[in-house]
Amino acid sequence: MSNIEQTLSIIKPDAVERNLIDEIKAIFIKNNLNIKEDKKIHLTKEEAAEFYKVHQSKPFYDDLCSYLSSGPIVAMILEGKNAVLFNRQLMGATDPKKAEDKTIRKLYGISIDKNSVHGSDSIENAKKEIDFFFKN
Ligand code: CMP
Repeated sequence: MSNIEQTLSIIKPDAVERNLIDEIKAIFIKNNLNIKEDKKIHLTKEEAAEFYKVHQSKPFYDDLCSYLSSGPIVAMILEGKNAVLFNRQLMGATDPKKAEDKTIRKLYGISIDKNSVHGSDSIENAKKEIDFFFKN
């Protein structure tokens, strides 16, 4: 059975603001994660709240939604072998302080909020998140 998967990646406002789009895309490409589609977009707070609704019970939810809608982001469909898990390995731990060397969050992340990238955490969520940005 093929293990070629698709996952949703977001370059967050802190990284877009610092002109890191091409550098981060180059990491995916170098690691054989194909960028099938990409889109630069500025979400409203309501759209960000819909995107992150799995986190709605968390104490950081409101700040998270404000942050994701604070500036332009780049949403991408990444495709490749074990793409969901592999992208999470390339990103590193959620908190850049705890991320391993050479991971995207270690290289570019500023804080747990401004951690430069998002990646789907399961195949099921990847489908939902891809639909959120790219359906129709
Ligand atoms: P992300 O992978 O986009 O998914 C949810 C985001 O919530 C996460 O990255 C972090 O940027 C943010 N966040 C803020 N505080 C926390 C926290 N205490 N634990 C986990 N995620 C957090």
